[in-house]
Amino acid sequence: MKRMRHPLLIGLLGTLLAVGGCNTRRADGPAAAAAPANPVQAEMRALHDATRDWVTAIADNDLARIPPGISRVHAARQVTEQALLKGEYRPPKASDDVAGFTRQDEAFHDELVKLLEAARASDLPRATRQLGVVLEGCTTCHQKYRF
Ligand code: HEC
Repeated sequence: MKRMRHPLLIGLLGTLLAVGGCNTRRADGPAAAAAPANPVQAEMRALHDATRDWVTAIADNDLARIPPGISRVHAARQVTEQALLKGEYRPPKASDDVAGFTRQDEAFHDELVKLLEAARASDLPRATRQLGVVLEGCTTCHQKYRF
């Protein structure tokens, strides 16, 4: 009887591994590989990557890992600013409100500066609270100008 259970277990393990393999492939599928279509998408991808690093930095209390991502986002944002100034970018939603979008973007970057300051002060509770403010900023802007 005992011997009969092994093939079953191996089969189950194989299924679990196959499911895990699918998930891995999905994470870097065609959508993730496509080039950004405009400066905001490029900035957002930099921001998304940085945000994941910030969560890990806070989890590990290793706040020195926060500033490099903020620098990368600020560099990407300068390209966005130029595109906005030249009237080359409109958000997918509320597309006529470019001025409002620009203000929202500026306010959001002020919140990133506060995260930078908390990280430089090695203040873990303050950095954690400020990351919460930053995350709320993602959704506030996405609801108004993206989704
Ligand atoms: C000031 C407004 C604003 C803020 C703040 C903002 N986003 Fe966005 N985000 C947008 C807009 C607009 C788009 C749609 C861009 C497009 O397709 O033209 C977008 C798109 C994205 C995308 C998809 C990019 C792509 O490749 O198509 C990701 C990922 C993203 N945002 C992540 C974030 C994260 C994470 C945060 C917060 C840490 C955040 N965003 C904060 C406005 C914002």
